[in-house]
Amino acid sequence: MGNNWLKSAVFYEIYPNSFMDTNGDGYGDLKGITSKLDYVKSLGANAIWLNPHYDSPFMDGGYDVRDFFKVSPRFGTEEDFDEFIRMAHSKGIKVILDLVAGHTSEQNPDFLRSAEPTENEMYDRFIWTRGEWDFPQGFKAIGGRHNRKGNYIVNFYSTQPSLNYGFNKIDEPSWQMSYKSEAALKTREWLKSVMRFWLDRGADGFRVDMADSLVKNDGDWGEKPATSELWQDVRAMLDKEYPDAVLISEWSNPQAIRAGFHADFMLDHWGNPYNLLVRGEEAPDGHSYFDIKGSGDAAKFAKGFTEWYDQIKDDGYLAIISCNHDTPRLAPIYSHDQLKLIYATLFTLPGVPFIYYGDEIGMKYIKDLPSVECGFARTGSRTPMQWSTDKNAGFSTAEKTFLPTEIDKNINVEAQQKDKKSLLNFVKSLLAFRKSREEFTSRDFEIVHAVGSEPLCYKRGNLLCIVNPLSSKGSVNIVVPPKSKELFSEGKAAKIKKDGIDVPPLSFTVFEV
Ligand code: GLC
Repeated sequence: MGNNWLKSAVFYEIYPNSFMDTNGDGYGDLKGITSKLDYVKSLGANAIWLNPHYDSPFMDGGYDVRDFFKVSPRFGTEEDFDEFIRMAHSKGIKVILDLVAGHTSEQNPDFLRSAEPTENEMYDRFIWTRGEWDFPQGFKAIGGRHNRKGNYIVNFYSTQPSLNYGFNKIDEPSWQMSYKSEAALKTREWLKSVMRFWLDRGADGFRVDMADSLVKNDGDWGEKPATSELWQDVRAMLDKEYPDAVLISEWSNPQAIRAGFHADFMLDHWGNPYNLLVRGEEAPDGHSYFDIKGSGDAAKFAKGFTEWYDQIKDDGYLAIISCNHDTPRLAPIYSHDQLKLIYATLFTLPGVPFIYYGDEIGMKYIKDLPSVECGFARTGSRTPMQWSTDKNAGFSTAEKTFLPTEIDKNINVEAQQKDKKSLLNFVKSLLAFRKSREEFTSRDFEIVHAVGSEPLCYKRGNLLCIVNPLSSKGSVNIVVPPKSKELFSEGKAAKIKKDGIDVPPLSFTVFEV
């Protein structure tokens, strides 16, 4: 089972470009994050996931790492990083870093060395085809950029060459190596050295980028035996050398926990349980349960979620997100009143909550922003944090910020701190309530009522949670002791009657039954 601190962790995800700029260059920085640690703590979060802070040419928002052992000068100095970790820890906040395990930047020195025309010590660190005319099916191969004979395989964009962790099934022995080959094992050892480097600097673990992408030809996305073997080996190293560290995968499949991760993100993938709960609104059938028109089906969500959860609950956790840097924010599709119910549901389901910066104040996804640093559609979720109505929303004193700032008199921290009914204050009270009851961090979970768009009811131990996402009232025929105590509610609280429960429109209630 995962590490103890993870059980009660509440993460706040920070995209460093966008959080707080202290040197007036229009980009956020580490000093800025350090200056806002008390704010993070005040929300009720006790951990931070920091998106890549490494030296990078930023051809994919920092997921193209040039130097894995160096802080990007854009974000500050090495000392700024150490100070950030030190201050976070002194306030009881853990920090996990983003581990970009599968690829590097095309400007990474090891890659450039491997791209030289004659054999050298980095020749097999990346995946190169044998000949310059090889464009193998099922791979993205880039040619004509370097003098090495052959084309290099990339994981994502053309700027992100795949590291060579080898192949499971070998179709082309002339250039595909086994995942057990010496070269592949050397890459794996290099990865461990990156991890050790940052763990020694005080990191508390990693969110692993594209965790399923490492070994090639390794079956489909569900079961990936050789990739799993690799991660089990990495996990064994952690268990031995850094037993407090956590490993959280971007995989979104129960397989990840079997592969040795402590937790795995349940991402917004079309038709998966997360998407059946929330975010499917833009589909023609608007299939999410939180669709206000009631076109979702709680039963579909409940079935998928329970099946998934049952597979992992004994060995790990689901990481449940409000959003992330790759996903459109929930606002403005949902109003702040709806967001309260959505967060209440997401963060009382069994799992580790992850709040994306700005979601606590309902920052909006900004449509049609020109792409910056290859964010493309994701750019609209990465705009600077809105602290106040000052210049650049209090984010920066620069004349121009790297993305435009939104100035909104209601959607900023300062305004919402003053407003008792704000989303921000709701998030604080929700997280405080969650923390006050250990049922929420236990494994106990049972769906009690999940039928179409009727109120969804589930139990965590003796706590009964009831949500109604519709603007019309609902009722459920669950009989609970009349003296059950109402512990928490948003909107009008549900009412216990002899033969059932009346559930007001747009409401969330927790009873102790
Ligand atoms: C992950 C990251 C995303 C990045 C991609 C390639 O999905 O979250 O931002 O572009 O991997 O590294």
